[in-house]
Amino acid sequence: MLHLAQKTDPRWAALAADQLDAVVVDHAHCEHKAAVTALSLVSKYPDDPRLLTALSALARDEAAHFARMVEVVTARGLVLGHPDADGYVQGLLDAVRPTRGHALDHRVDRLLVCAVIEGRSCERLQLLAEELGRRGEPLAALYDELWREEATHHTLFVELAVRSYERAGLSDAAARVERRLAWLATEEAALLAAAPLRAAIHG
Ligand SMILES: [Fe+2]
Ligand SMILES: [Fe+2]
Repeated sequence: MLHLAQKTDPRWAALAADQLDAVVVDHAHCEHKAAVTALSLVSKYPDDPRLLTALSALARDEAAHFARMVEVVTARGLVLGHPDADGYVQGLLDAVRPTRGHALDHRVDRLLVCAVIEGRSCERLQLLAEELGRRGEPLAALYDELWREEATHHTLFVELAVRSYERAGLSDAAARVERRLAWLATEEAALLAAAPLRAAIHG
């Protein structure tokens, strides 16, 4: 279960497959950001051994995904370049409750924003894998592998959010996280709906 409030526009997969060069460059940047974010969360929240173990391993996996996407980018004769300004991620971070006076809620929101992003990545990488498979495009196999991993990342971030409330002694941790995740998923769907459809993992 990916907790998405809205499915991706059905036109997206064909658009992405038509502009695969743009997608693989954008996707490489996404994997880089995922690795960096996981490491920054490890630095920010070193108190929980489960979080440390899980997110340091996740950072390793995302860095490996990045390396594979760099290979794809290079093999296609493309240049990675610098990432575009990321209005999608920034929009989600703007929805995070401020840390001052709400450190625990801030922490949960940071983890749930990652859960939402992983959920959308999973959905779209699967759509792309299926579309590329229909077209006989060899990259379908890589995308078929990657979407399954992103599904486990989504679940992990939700688990770490629940665990954060539980460790603080809140008895209704799971219910709190469900409510907050549903709200953030609605925000995420609104961000996607407000932006033009484009050949990007989160556009
Ligand atoms: Fe990844
Ligand atoms: Fe991921």
